[in-house]
Amino acid sequence: MAEIIDGKLLALKVKDKLKSKVVEFKNKYGRDIVLSVVLVGDNPASQVYVRNKLKATEYVGMKSLSFVLPENASENQVAETVKSLAVDKGVDGILVQLPLPKGIDERKILKLIPPEKDVDGFLAENVGKLMLGEETTVACTPFGVLTMLKENNIELSGKNAVVIGRSNIVGKPMAMLLLKENCTVTICHSKTVNLKEMCSNADILIAAIGKPLFVTADMVKPGAVVIDVGINRTEKGIVGDVDFENVKEKVSFISPVPGGVGPMTIAMLLENTYLCALRRENC
Ligand code: GUN
Repeated sequence: MAEIIDGKLLALKVKDKLKSKVVEFKNKYGRDIVLSVVLVGDNPASQVYVRNKLKATEYVGMKSLSFVLPENASENQVAETVKSLAVDKGVDGILVQLPLPKGIDERKILKLIPPEKDVDGFLAENVGKLMLGEETTVACTPFGVLTMLKENNIELSGKNAVVIGRSNIVGKPMAMLLLKENCTVTICHSKTVNLKEMCSNADILIAAIGKPLFVTADMVKPGAVVIDVGINRTEKGIVGDVDFENVKEKVSFISPVPGGVGPMTIAMLLENTYLCALRRENC
């Protein structure tokens, strides 16, 4: 029976540590740390995410600026909002909640964010720095997963890590982070042949494929560490990419959904905002 990695508890620990770092920052630099959030349209999941992000910002003592634009906002309107935040000296971080409504070019909008305010770590400059092993802002979800592994003292060096999913915001940066920790990394995806065999060789298995209960017990190595990044809305509520009930009997560590990676992603967004503010003061 596996040890369950409690993401909610760990996220609280990260946020509580951050609380005192935010106070120190204020004392040292005489100003607040400010995160701006841009939400376009009425995607219900995005609304929930943004609400939780704003609540968490307040919890750690940072200030937030929230910009809500209608579903039919033009690309130009969204661009102007981001441009004004880009030049605002009082703003440390800019988060444009994705996905944007159809007809708005996401890459074009994201490119308007200065890399030093890119708290999501989505921009080419920050992704490139991650690849080069330079200090940078790392996308919140993979950063959260790495923190979960490290805080549980899970040995990474020399281990076989398999990442299922190759998205720009999870799979690819996750692979880079694990490589930096000296894992032997394999990225699998929907076209991978022998996916089951690949997974059953993993000491560390990260599921980020977006298919409900995709990873079954017969796919995992006994004693492996399994982190579930999936958030799938089904008739039975929100489920992960891993068949938690059966897989947990076979592995050494497993993260649940909900209460695993989700809360960590928000905690790391705040950590990233703090790090951006600190770098802006010290550049
Ligand atoms: N939509 C889903 N996940 C994310 C995220 O991490 N950041 C942003 N900006 N939008 C998202």
